[in-house]
Amino acid sequence: MVFLRSVPHGWAKRSLRQEASRLFSFIKEKNSVLMKNTTIRRFMQSDLESVRTLHEVGLKQMDAYIGDPRLNRDLDTIFDVYLNNEGEFLVAVCNEKIIGMGGLRKVDKNTAEIKRLRVTRTYQGKGIGKTILDELIRRAKELGYQKLIIDTTTKQIPAQRLFEKVGFRETRRERLGKLEQVFYEMNIS
Ligand SMILES: CC(C)(COP(=O)(O)OP(=O)(O)OC[C@H]1O[C@@H](n2cnc3c(N)ncnc32)[C@H](O)[C@@H]1OP(=O)(O)O)[C@@H](O)C(=O)NCCC(=O)NCCS
Repeated sequence: MVFLRSVPHGWAKRSLRQEASRLFSFIKEKNSVLMKNTTIRRFMQSDLESVRTLHEVGLKQMDAYIGDPRLNRDLDTIFDVYLNNEGEFLVAVCNEKIIGMGGLRKVDKNTAEIKRLRVTRTYQGKGIGKTILDELIRRAKELGYQKLIIDTTTKQIPAQRLFEKVGFRETRRERLGKLEQVFYEMNIS
C-alpha cells in the first residue's frame, strides 16, 4: 500500500498489472514444465500399490473416504474390470512417481463410467485431472460408447466443477452413509 501511495496513480496501476502478468506467466511456465515432465500412460501391474494409496489419500483429503473394502474391489482386478473389458485405466507419471489416475469402466454396450479420478494433492490445480479426464472421454468415444456416467460427493467441489466444465450434467443425488452422492451423465455420441 505504501508503494501504491508513493508513486503516481497510473504508474502504480500499470506496474501492478505488469507484476500480475509476470506472475501469471511464471505460473503458466511452471505448470507447462510440469506438464512436459508428466506422462499419461496405461496402468501396469507394478503401479498397483501407488494406485491404491492415491485412491485412499484422495478421498481422505476430501473427507469422503468410507473405508469399506467392498467399495474398492475393482482396484484388486484392474485388468479384468477395466483393461480387458472394453475399458481403460490411465496413470499420470511425473519423475517416475504416480501422481494421477483415472479409469473407464464398461457399464453396458452404450454406457461407460469414469471412476477413480485422483491427482496427488501437491499436483492438483495444474491441469492434470482435466488431462486424464479428457483422455478418458476421447478413449470412450474411440471404444464406441454413447453415454458416460460419473459420480462424486457433495464434499468434492473441485470434482463437481471439473465434471461440469467438461460437459457432464447432474442427474440425481443419493445418500451414502454420512455422504451425499452426486450423479452426472454426458452424451458423447
Ligand atoms: C478432482 C481432481 C481429480 C481434479 O484434478 P486437478 O488436477 O486438481 O484439476 P485440474 O487442475 O485439471 O482442474 C480442472 C478444472 O477443475 C476445476 N477445479 C479444480 N480444482 C478446483 C478447486 N480447488 N475449486 C474449484 N474448481 C476446481 C476447475 O473447473 C478447473 O478448471 P480451471 O483451472 O480452468 O478453473 C483432484 O482435485 C482430486 O484428485 N481430488 C481428490 C479426489 C476427488 O475428489 N476425485 C474426484 C472423483 S470422486
